[in-house]
Amino acid sequence: MPSPPIDPEAFRAFEHEGWERVPQRYHNAFASLTSQTIAPVLDAVGATTGIRLLDVATGPGYAAAAAAERGAKVIGIDFAQAMVAEARRRYPTVDFREGDAEDLPFPEASFDAVMMNFGLLHLARPERALAEAHRVLHPEGRFGFTVWAQPEEAIGFQMVLRAVERYGKLDVGIPQGPHFFRFSDPQECQRSLLDAGFISPSVKTLPLIWRLSSPDALFESMFEGTVRTAGLLRAQSADAIRAIRKVLRQAVLPYQEGVGVELPMPAVLASARKP
Ligand SMILES: C[S@@+](CC[C@H](N)C(=O)[O-])C[C@H]1O[C@@H](n2cnc3c(N)ncnc32)[C@H](O)[C@@H]1O
Repeated sequence: MPSPPIDPEAFRAFEHEGWERVPQRYHNAFASLTSQTIAPVLDAVGATTGIRLLDVATGPGYAAAAAAERGAKVIGIDFAQAMVAEARRRYPTVDFREGDAEDLPFPEASFDAVMMNFGLLHLARPERALAEAHRVLHPEGRFGFTVWAQPEEAIGFQMVLRAVERYGKLDVGIPQGPHFFRFSDPQECQRSLLDAGFISPSVKTLPLIWRLSSPDALFESMFEGTVRTAGLLRAQSADAIRAIRKVLRQAVLPYQEGVGVELPMPAVLASARKP
């Protein structure tokens, strides 16, 4: 079946409105998970003392703060004013600004390193963000990003999508965006980085573990702490939501550790250099 056309402005507005609403709930659900990739991304972009580093789609600012700890001169940028406020509250000594990944408010060659931790998959026009990362990098500067691995591997997503397919519907009329798992494909990462003008792309998988406090926390985290996946879940009927929640509680049982759950949620880390 052909995919419906994407309206980038409608999708961007949907994402923007969503991220403005969730900073605290995103933190509760995902901080301990997305923070697991920070050190490998900082290593991949060569984040050491004195380098000028831009953290794009910084969210609550975890990666920017970690880069500052390494002695980098950091700016974190996010298009959601509420995320920027949350990042400033958490890390008052780090420079956080509002701005769009697809239209970065910096002159060319402003940074030695640019990173984006779980940002690219939320963008209406990811190619523009890659081109912008390239533009603001100094020659020989490094760019690195992470996204989720395919749902067959990042099984929290697989469980949710299967449950929606079985008890609800996938086509719920929320604004369509680019495919959520587009950059989970290493070849697509490499191709897109080369198209944006980068050289020497490298892609690897990082084995993250999502430690959830209870079997119900998978549903709660996705329902409360995300934007696109939450939009899909919230658009289901009340009966479907009840059924999805129940089946997710059962699906995670093989991954129980004590009262909690430990789900494999690997990520793809792609990095490259500006010539
Ligand atoms: C999944 S969160 C990632 C946050 C953080 N980097 C982390 O690793 O936890 C995605 C973030 O991307 C931001 N975002 C989405 N689209 C954006 C855009 N076009 N420009 C800047 N930020 C954007 C959202 O506001 C949100 O804070």
